[in-house]
Amino acid sequence: MAAIGSAVGLGNIWRFPYVAYQNGGGAFLIPYLCALLTAGIPLLILEYSLGHRYRGSGPLAFRRISRWGEFAGWFQVFIAFLIALYYPIIIAWSVRYMGYSFHREWGDNPTRFFNESFLHKADGFGLHMVPNLLIPLLVVWAVIVIVMAFGVENGIGRLNRIFVPVLVILFASLVIRALFLPGAAQGLNVFFTPKWGSLRHPSVWIAAYGQIFFSLNVGFAVMITYSSYLKSKTNLVGTAHVVAFANSSFEALAGIGVFATLGFLAASSGQPVGEVAEGGIGLAFIAFPTIISQMPGGTVFGVIFFGCLSIAGLTSEISVVEVCISAIRDKFGLARWAATTAVILPLVIASVLLFPTTTGASTLDIFDKFVCSIGIVSAAIISMLTISWGLRHLPVLQLHLNALSSRKVGRPWRFYVSVLTPAVLLIILGTETHSIITEGYGNYPQWALLVFGWLPILCFFVVSLLLPLAPWPAAAEVEKGAVRRPEEELLDTPHSKNPHSENYAEKNTVRHDNSA
Ligand code: ALA
Repeated sequence: MAAIGSAVGLGNIWRFPYVAYQNGGGAFLIPYLCALLTAGIPLLILEYSLGHRYRGSGPLAFRRISRWGEFAGWFQVFIAFLIALYYPIIIAWSVRYMGYSFHREWGDNPTRFFNESFLHKADGFGLHMVPNLLIPLLVVWAVIVIVMAFGVENGIGRLNRIFVPVLVILFASLVIRALFLPGAAQGLNVFFTPKWGSLRHPSVWIAAYGQIFFSLNVGFAVMITYSSYLKSKTNLVGTAHVVAFANSSFEALAGIGVFATLGFLAASSGQPVGEVAEGGIGLAFIAFPTIISQMPGGTVFGVIFFGCLSIAGLTSEISVVEVCISAIRDKFGLARWAATTAVILPLVIASVLLFPTTTGASTLDIFDKFVCSIGIVSAAIISMLTISWGLRHLPVLQLHLNALSSRKVGRPWRFYVSVLTPAVLLIILGTETHSIITEGYGNYPQWALLVFGWLPILCFFVVSLLLPLAPWPAAAEVEKGAVRRPEEELLDTPHSKNPHSENYAEKNTVRHDNSA
């Protein structure tokens, strides 16, 4: 439930519909499903096994395999840091829209309201603050600080248990209402009609992989950290499948709701579905107000919907911030308050300077594009190659998984993780990089792509390479926590010879005090 609560967030409701729309609607579903089955789930299983067996934050789990692996864990943590930086502004939008829902302030033109009255969108890049965005952003950061200070365990767990089911119910009601809007079928046709020709475009593929990784929380150390808290006997493969399918079902629901609404807007304006809305990062904030305005009791509905959306976003944000905090606590032995300050202070300052401005939506667009299409995808490739070829550790993780899970992983899983997925990702990443360098992205100037896109990712990559040089505070503890290789286990403990026996699972699961 915690993993689902962390996976289900703004990525499902805010991001998926606009990425699908940007990539041609129906064109997107085939790459999306391929990405889910050949990369998302295999990588999720890999992260589960890594976190569960080595019991630690991203860098610590990698470090416990070998000192040469640590950088891969750090790169994942820095991707989490970048997500934690831009995520709160979208939560702030949801908070503000909760207020707007009382009087449906978007009126009969949610598109114009969003761009002009809400964002005060301007061209170029500048630092003109919009108080209407700044204040909710500060409120969101204040809430994050309070939750982090008062303990993650009780706060987040309880929030998830209450608000995720409420959000699902409300969300399903919105989607059902959207299906009855005139013209909905036209929108759904666009969403569900595959466009085979689009399979030739690498940008559609990279968008699909980026979306799956972002949404499923793989490639930025959340699932490594979460699985380190699971009981020693946990059906890891089964749990990973449940999380992946629950997350994607939620996403499909969001797509259906938004495309049905686009069909309605197209029918009312006489335009084709593909041209009816500007698309982009504001799509959900245009589509859902449109449905809310059409519903009886729309005001109450809107308030609760955007309230739950804010909370779903908050729970995901907190899990991403926690990834960074736990990593630097493990590495530098800091007290919780010191680590929290070291992570949150720079995040607050940078996010306040970058996003609640008249041009913040463009900055956000660039950040989101680069983090998901370049950052997460690179982190995923690096992790897969490091574990499978650098450290040659897949057989060990496979034994661990199969000792614990009712559904076994075999050669296909190893093939996906070590060969197929890294190869496909490397090809599309290379093509995408070439296309961004030669053709740019979204009509933004190259200097903006450099400053808000390439630089943060490159700088953090370099820092990831350097951090393993710093010593661990309790090097002996790190070493002691490392698992003995199964071949040693199998040799010297007769009763643990069968990798499917519970005894094997017990012996091969490190118990490490995660409170440290
Ligand atoms: N997985 C989280 C989301 O989808 C980050 O929003």
